[in-house]
Amino acid sequence: MELNLATLPDYLHQRHEKIRIFEPEVPLHIEEIGDGNLNTVYRVSDVAHPERSLVLKHAPPYIKILGPDYPLSTERLTYESRALEIYNQLVSGTVPAQYDFDAAMSVIAMEDLRDASVLRDDLIAGKVDTAIAEQVGRFMGIVHSQTYVDNVPKATAQHYSQQFANTTMQSITADYVFTFPFTEHETNFWTSGLAPDVRQLKADTDFLQQAAHLKHIFLTAQQGVTHGDLHTGSVLVQDNTAKVIDAEFAFYGPVGFDIGLYWANYFLAYFSHQDTSRVQSALKTAVEKVWDTYTAEFTMVDTGLKAQVLGNIFQDAVGFAGLEVLRRLIGAAHVKDIEGIADLSEKLSVEKAALQFGTTLVKQCQSLRDVAAVIAMLS
Ligand SMILES: Nc1ncnc2c1ncn2[C@@H]1O[C@H](COP(=O)(O)OP(=O)(O)OP(=O)(O)O)[C@@H](O)[C@H]1O
Ligand SMILES: [Mg+2]
Repeated sequence: MELNLATLPDYLHQRHEKIRIFEPEVPLHIEEIGDGNLNTVYRVSDVAHPERSLVLKHAPPYIKILGPDYPLSTERLTYESRALEIYNQLVSGTVPAQYDFDAAMSVIAMEDLRDASVLRDDLIAGKVDTAIAEQVGRFMGIVHSQTYVDNVPKATAQHYSQQFANTTMQSITADYVFTFPFTEHETNFWTSGLAPDVRQLKADTDFLQQAAHLKHIFLTAQQGVTHGDLHTGSVLVQDNTAKVIDAEFAFYGPVGFDIGLYWANYFLAYFSHQDTSRVQSALKTAVEKVWDTYTAEFTMVDTGLKAQVLGNIFQDAVGFAGLEVLRRLIGAAHVKDIEGIADLSEKLSVEKAALQFGTTLVKQCQSLRDVAAVIAMLS
């Protein structure tokens, strides 16, 4: 059975015993709500009781927006399901509850986060709630510290490493974040006025060496359960509460990648609001709060080890943040925060500033001491 709007009612009725949200055979309203590139996301509700609803995420065996000529393993949803499970165990309430996972059809049925907004849209609208940054920092701190290789028995770390050996999705990130943006690649694009800056970046051997080093860390470090795609589009805000979604890139890797990606998307929002100091100041506070709440969760028996571990995570996170900022300016996937700036000269000035900042983060990730030093570079 191919899953689409026409076949979903049958599928849901067949799967009724597992999903258990609706009474059997009740009329259902189904709408496609996903705006993503890879998968199809539907909201299903009981026509008579619309408050009874769920979200279905389906991974076709290809990249949804490109079609069947671009195959992609449906296993991505197995990793998302495993991540939801572990997140629900460790930090329940911070992710949607998972009702059912059907590996054969590659479908997750999960809690409908009704009336939630996407964090990126809130930030674009200038709504910066630093409590959300704290909640996401806490979420990362709990998941990372409780799955961290030095914090769990060896057998547990090996188990995580096997359960999250998501090499297909990891290599997509390696290409699109660490490699393609800094080479000649057909998927890259940028504002024409940015061409001299891009040329300079691609000829900067210090930068390229540091990017290669960070890519090596990304591909080899085995530290903890890493979400792998934790940007501001992967956080929904419901009743002032952050909910993390879209964990199909989850892998057992360098945990600083999550911090770096998340920070980077706050930095991109920061540059996009270059004329609104109130919003910029709140975004700087948000970046600090992420780190404060993260480190507070990072408990380790040996405090010497803890300082060293957090120091390394910080350096990696700064470097990864720089690469994420850059690839969102010159790689295949840009961000709405900046693409939505209608005035082209303003957009170019935002992009130039962000490009300089991202480059510096990458080149100085080993010498920037703390989050205050990173924030100081923004003023
Ligand atoms: N549990 C949920 N409750 C409410 N809305 C949801 C839920 N899960 C996903 N959505 C909506 O569907 C959108 C797409 O979801 P998601 O990011 O998981 O899909 P995706 O296809 O993996 O996207 P991408 O191509 O960006 O990776 C979200 O931005 C959100 O608007
Ligand atoms: Mg996704």
